[in-house]
Amino acid sequence: MAETIRVLVPEKEVDKRIEELGKKISEDYAGKQVHLICVLKGGVFFMCELAKRITVPVSMDFMSVSSYGAGTESSGIVKIVKDLDEPLEGKDVLIVEDIIDSGRTLFHLMKILKERGPKSMHICTLLDKPERRVEDVKVDYVGFNIPDEFVVGYGLDYAQKYRNLPFIGVVEGVE
Ligand code: HPA
Ligand code: MG
Repeated sequence: MAETIRVLVPEKEVDKRIEELGKKISEDYAGKQVHLICVLKGGVFFMCELAKRITVPVSMDFMSVSSYGAGTESSGIVKIVKDLDEPLEGKDVLIVEDIIDSGRTLFHLMKILKERGPKSMHICTLLDKPERRVEDVKVDYVGFNIPDEFVVGYGLDYAQKYRNLPFIGVVEGVE
């Protein structure tokens, strides 16, 4: 059977929540410039929408990582596939993620990036699956806490499909 997508968070709710996050980040970073780091590919839709809602000066950079591990269990050992273009030294960095589950990849990524001497480093994720957490990563901004179901849309894929959906959906009908 072909998979179907059940709406979990409708577009309007996603938009509203991103607006709230943008407002909060703008308050928290008052008087500063926030350097957004997008973890490709999943983070790109969220980062663009979020950046549009931030009223303090914003700069952006992109990176792509892969983590070694069998199947869906990430080892967290991070390989940088595409590195950032800009140095992080002295910057107020905000890492923008699509989803955090075990936190393994993010934990190791943060270790690598902290060595580059940013002034501060915080995390913003659209979705969080706290039930799945293995590493104790402190997430500063969360769009939605969601149950442990496989989600797509807003940058998240299933076999590279569905990233472009403007809502968060759950994939059904796959084994
Ligand atoms: N969907 C897509 N990608 C993911 C998920 C998910 O639920 N969890 C971790 N990566
Ligand atoms: Mg991701």
